[in-house]
Amino acid sequence: MHRPLHSNHQNYGLQMKGIDLMQKPAPSDFPVHELIRERWSPRAFADKPVPRDVLRSIFEAARWAPSSNNEQPWAYIVASRDDNASFEKTLSVLVEFNANWARGAPVLAIAVARLTFAKNNVPNRNAQYDTGAATALLSVEATARGLAVHQMAGFDPEKARHVFGIPAGWEAIAAIAIGYPGDPASLPQPLKDREMAPRTRKPINEFVMAGHWGHTAPFAAK
Ligand SMILES: Cc1cc2nc3c(=O)[nH]c(=O)nc-3n(C[C@H](O)[C@H](O)[C@H](O)COP(=O)(O)O)c2cc1C
Repeated sequence: MHRPLHSNHQNYGLQMKGIDLMQKPAPSDFPVHELIRERWSPRAFADKPVPRDVLRSIFEAARWAPSSNNEQPWAYIVASRDDNASFEKTLSVLVEFNANWARGAPVLAIAVARLTFAKNNVPNRNAQYDTGAATALLSVEATARGLAVHQMAGFDPEKARHVFGIPAGWEAIAAIAIGYPGDPASLPQPLKDREMAPRTRKPINEFVMAGHWGHTAPFAAK
């Protein structure tokens, strides 16, 4: 088990086999579940494979996401580093910035959504939304198992279609890096700085409204 060495409001270090690891718990304004606080998107990953049973569990969590009409419009194309051909194929669809750090993750995936309902081919305007919900649950399950998940929009969906044979009517939505958190010192300086930067969010009074657009919900007002 990872154990915190010291803590402050923004982040605290962990050690695994003498290597400094990082956690960056959200400095939330209001209490939230520990798993929500601890989930974050690192770019440094430990050189440690993800066991198959752990992979099964995180995709099982995605399976139990809610979806419009219970359509479950998501699919994931997953590549572990030990499957070199698939891993390199996944890296090849990432933008260079992402490929440079995601190469260090032991598992990469592409989240794909079916854009129409299977039963009648009517457009499913919630397909991307539901696929995001599935990946959010996957991320929380991964956090509970000591893993980190880093999603990426920086990839080429049409190249992914070509490289993986994604059929018409389905669309690659996001690339995902999965693995155990690693040592930020393994990253080049600009990424190291981003790894250590404080986590920020809009306050809830900016996005929780009631009655009319732009009117903050009373419970969310300062
Ligand atoms: C759909 C999506 C796309 C993202 N695309 C990228 C990306 O291409 N490259 C990257 O380094 N991070 C990417 N991120 C990570 C975000 O920058 C990160 O989630 C955000 O800064 C909040 O940080 P946190 O996840 O650590 O809380 C993406 C996240 C999501 C959910």
